[in-house]
Formats: sequence, structure tokens, C-alpha cells
Amino acid sequence: MKRTLVSLLLISTLLITLACERRGGPGAGGETGQIVVGYYGDLTGRTSNFGVSTRNGVLMAADEINKAGGINGRQITILSEDDEGRPEKAATVVTKLIDQDRVIALLGEVASGNTLAAAPKAQSAHVPMISPSSTNPAVTQVGDYIFRVCFIDPFQGEVMAKFAANTLKAKTAAIMLDFNSPYSRGLTEFFEKSFTKLGGQILSKQSYTQGDRDYKGQLTSIRSLNPDVIYVPGYYGEVGVIAKQAKQLDIKAPLLGGDGWDAPQIWELGGDALNGSFISNHYSVEDPSPAIQKFVADFKGRYNVVPDALAALGYDAMRVLADALKRSGTSEGPALRDAIAATKEFVGVTGVITIDAERNAVKPAVVLKLQGGKYVYQQTIGADAPAGAAASPATTSTSSVTGASPAAVASPSAATKATSY
Ligand code: PHE
Repeated sequence: MKRTLVSLLLISTLLITLACERRGGPGAGGETGQIVVGYYGDLTGRTSNFGVSTRNGVLMAADEINKAGGINGRQITILSEDDEGRPEKAATVVTKLIDQDRVIALLGEVASGNTLAAAPKAQSAHVPMISPSSTNPAVTQVGDYIFRVCFIDPFQGEVMAKFAANTLKAKTAAIMLDFNSPYSRGLTEFFEKSFTKLGGQILSKQSYTQGDRDYKGQLTSIRSLNPDVIYVPGYYGEVGVIAKQAKQLDIKAPLLGGDGWDAPQIWELGGDALNGSFISNHYSVEDPSPAIQKFVADFKGRYNVVPDALAALGYDAMRVLADALKRSGTSEGPALRDAIAATKEFVGVTGVITIDAERNAVKPAVVLKLQGGKYVYQQTIGADAPAGAAASPATTSTSSVTGASPAAVASPSAATKATSY
């Protein structure tokens, strides 16, 4: 009897040890050793600038945090995976990061359609995921382990509708949308809702799919209706070509877009045809605040490129995760999830980040004008500004993860050319 008990005890100890070891792979690592974080994004596909730029921001933040001593003495390691901008691949690489690499959290994706495909994997494994920049509302609705550090598209669509109606005095609009993209479809819906509410009229909606080369049919029918503005809520690879063909067809109405236009490659595709277009975005590199200018200078020094919104959001996502890890004192899924959910007034380069009950960040947007290869700051629109009101400047606060991080962020409202409405 005694012997059986002893062997039973031995067996159970062995089993427990084995189980702990399994949980204690590279990622879970108990509460010592490296903290392994998974990054997934499009590094080689049609939206590769999104993935590369975001990863650069993530890596820069992780290095700064590590140099400043890491998270309670532990260093961060980023494992990154290329999903080629394909939803199925995004789900596959996230499964790999969770099951094989045992990452304690995930950062990604950029394009909402890819995040939507991968998020259920993180949710069911109880591994927290923070999307730096996916703006479609459905993303965080996947479950309570899915977060984002950017604003959402009902707001982004409204920002452009207000800008069109109030600043450009547009009465009519046409929309060119990528029908297979949840991002593009969502923005179309939200822009339409807000623009009509402001008294505007949508004359036509034309659709295309990612990778199309010829948009002249759709543009010709839009031209015949002569709208005041044309809203194109797509990604840079298609938008650049659309702008060029619109110009060839002698369309004079300004093109309006969203954050998906943000990539230097858009200028190679669209060139001068993009001049005079406007987009909504997450931050402006022209923001004179010292914290933003320090980020821009550090990023340029490290990568020799100007950081776009993706880089800034990747940087912020990593720092929000690090802040939560520090507060929770553990990398276990449920506790880390709770700590991310409790993020309040975290000062990022893209604004002050508070995670709300829906796991989204409520932040102001900027409107930028495309001119001569640059995104020129126009105005900031606050998340709670009623239609027709001037945006309130982002507040300054001092929460920060590491000494190496910017201490405060001011709003771009001090930049020149700012107009309010
Ligand atoms: N918001 C876009 C999406 O959800 C992605 C994006 C963000 C692209 C920021 C560029 C800049 O699909």
C-alpha cells in the first residue's frame, strides 16, 4: 500500500514537472529568462511596407526597453513571421508562434482582414494579441484577448466625412472601394453614414479588388456624375494606380483616403497625380512636440527612413505591452490580459492610449494633405469633438515604461497650416 502511494506520488510529481516544463518553453519561461513576443505581418506581399515598417517600430521599442534593463530584469525577444499579406497565412503563422514558439503575446497584424483571420487563434489559446493598427471594429470583437492601440474606423470614416463636408464644403461624393477588404468595406459604410448625416450625398459606389491594374471603367462612370470628392478607402498599392488613372481621365475632384494610403511607395505609383489629396491618419511626422521629434530622429538614425504611422504604432504597441508586463509582474495569459485591459493614459508617440471596455484606444486623428511626395499636416480631429467643433489638443501625461521612452507628447495643433472647423 505504502509503496503504491509512494510510486503514485512519484508519478504525479513527474507529470507535474513535465507539465510545467511544457508550459515553460521559450515563451512562457516561468517568470525568469527571456520574454518571447511574436510579431506577424506582411513582409513580402502587396502590403509589405506595412509589415516591414511596423516591425521596425516594434524592434526599436524592444531594443530601447532591453537597454533600459528590460521588464523587471528580463529581456524581450521578438520572433517575427511573414504572412505575405494573406489571411490564411496569418492564421497559420500565428498558430505556429503560439504552439511551437510559445510566445507570451502577439503583436500584429496591420491589415484588418489579416488580423481578423489570426485573432481567433490567439483568443482560443488565451494569448493576448495587440494589433498596432487594424482599425476595423470587428477585430477586437473576436474576444477579450484581442486589443488595439489605434482608433477605429467609425471614427476614421467620420473624420474624413467631416473634413469633406465642413472644410472642403463638398455636397456630393463617390466612393471607390476594395470589395474584398473588411477595412475598405467598413470605411465605406462609416464615411457614407457620416457624410449623409452632414447633408452630403453619395452619388456612386464602385468596387475593385486588390491587385487590379485597370480602374478606368469605374473612374469613367464616376467622372460622368461629377462628384465634389472621391473617397478611396484602400491600400497604397491600388490607390497609387487609381490616382494616376483618375488624373489621366482628367478628373479634378480631390481624392480622399485613410491610413491605408500611408507608405512611401504610393508616390512611386501615383506621383504628381496624388497632389491635393487628403487622408486621415494616426500621427504626423511634422508634429513639433519634442517626444515625436525625438522618435522621428531616433528612427531615422536607425533605419534611414522617416517613420510612417505604422512604425509609430508598432513602437507604441510594443511599449504598451511592456508596460502591462511590468505592471502584471507575470507573462501568464490571463494576468497579462487583465494588465493590458487596465492600460490608462499611456503616453505614446501616436497619442495618449487608454484601452476602453471594448479593448480599443480612443485617440484623435490627423488630416494630412498629399503634396510633392509629402504628407502635409492640416488639422487634428479629436475623438469626442462634435461635428463643426475644433479638436482639443492631446493632453500631456507622464506615464512611461522605461527611461528611454518619450516622456510626453503634445498635439500637432501647433503645426502651421492648422485650421479648425
Ligand atoms: N487601418 C488599416 C486596416 O485596418 C491598416 C493600416 C493602418 C494601414 C495604418 C496603414 C496605416 O486595415
